[in-house]
Amino acid sequence: MIQIADILQTPLEYARLSTDELRDRITRRKAELNAVILGHNYQRVEIQAVSDFLGDSLGLSQEAAETNADVIVFCGVHFMAETAKILSPRKTVLMPDLRAGCPMADFVTADGLRRLKERFPGAAVISYVNSTAEVKAESDVCCTSSNAVEVVNSFPREQTLLFVPDRNLARYSAERSGRPYLTTSELGSEQIEELPEGAIVAWDGYCYVHDDLVFEELAAAKRRHPGAKVVIHPEARRDLLQHADFITSTAKMVDLAEEHDELIIGTERGLIDRLRQRFPEKTLIPLSGAAVCGNMKMNTLAKLAWSLDHEKHEIVLDEAVRERAEAALRRMLDLSGGWRPPSAEEEAIESAGLRSSGCDCA
Ligand code: 13P
Ligand code: SF4
Repeated sequence: MIQIADILQTPLEYARLSTDELRDRITRRKAELNAVILGHNYQRVEIQAVSDFLGDSLGLSQEAAETNADVIVFCGVHFMAETAKILSPRKTVLMPDLRAGCPMADFVTADGLRRLKERFPGAAVISYVNSTAEVKAESDVCCTSSNAVEVVNSFPREQTLLFVPDRNLARYSAERSGRPYLTTSELGSEQIEELPEGAIVAWDGYCYVHDDLVFEELAAAKRRHPGAKVVIHPEARRDLLQHADFITSTAKMVDLAEEHDELIIGTERGLIDRLRQRFPEKTLIPLSGAAVCGNMKMNTLAKLAWSLDHEKHEIVLDEAVRERAEAALRRMLDLSGGWRPPSAEEEAIESAGLRSSGCDCA
C-alpha cells in the first residue's frame, strides 16, 4: 500500500519532484490501483511516455471499452474521460485536471441540440465524439475523425442528418458521401420549408486549433519541402483540405509517418513532437508551429502523479444520461468493427483479471 507520508497535498508540491521520481511514483501507484493510463496523441511527450495506450479518439474509446483495469486515468480532455466512463461504468475514471475541456465540444449543449431536433423531426443525429455526455445522449450515433464518413454512409441516402458540433468534419463527410451540406448559421432561426434531400445540417462549431490553420503556412512549408506529402486533420477548413494528399485522424497520421520520409502534418503539435522522437531520421514538419491545444496541455506529469495518489478527479455521470450516451457510442463501435459483446470465455478471463492491459504502440 502507498505510504501516507509519501502523499503530497497539491499538484504544485509534486511539480517540485524530479521527472524520474514522478515516473517511479506513477508506476508504483498504477500497480497498487490496477490502473491504466490512456493518453491522447496530443498529450505532452512526457505524458505520452508513461501512457499504457496512446491513440486517437476511436482507439482510446475502443481501449476504454475493453480494458480490465479497475481505474482508468485519462490524459486528454473532458469528453474523452466521459467517454471512458460511459463505456466502463463500473470502473473509476480519473482526470488529472478537470479544467482540461474541449472548446469545440462546448459549442453545443443538449438543450440546443433538442431545439434543432424539434425543427427536423425525421432527421438522425450524429455527434462527433468531441461532445458532452448529455449531447451524446441526444444522438443516434457518435463518430470520430476516422469513421465519420462510414457513419454518415450507414444512414439512408435520403434521410436528413444533423451533425454536431464540428462544421468542418461535417462538410468533409458531406463531400465524401455526396450529400448536400449547410450549417445552422445558414439556416437562421426561420422554419425551413424544404431542405435538399439527404442534407447534412452541421452545427456551426469548430476546433480553434485546426480551424486556425491557414493556406499561407502550408504554402510556406511546401516551398521549403517541395517533395513532402501533406496530411491534414479533417477538423481543418475545406480550403486547406483541398491541398492535402491525405486527410485523416491522428492515429492514421502515425501510420503515414511510418510509410513516408518527408511529411507536412496539419494537426496539433503534440503528435508531431512524438513522431519526431520516434522517427528522428525523417523530415516531419508541422504545418503550423502555432497549432497547440492549450487544453490538452493542461495535463502534466506532476498532476498525473497527484491524481493517482489522491484518486482524483473522479468522473461521475447521471446513469440515465450515461445509458443513452452509451447506446450512441456502441452503435459507432459496432459500425467500426471495434466492439462486440465479450464471449462467455472472455467474461471469465476478464473477471479473473487476466487480460493484459496497454500496448506497445509508442
Ligand atoms: P483524433 O485523435 O480522433 O484524430 O481527434 C483529434 C482531436 O482533436 C481530439 O481532440
Ligand atoms: Fe478540442 Fe481541438 Fe483541443 Fe481537440 S485539439 S481537444 S478538438 S480544441
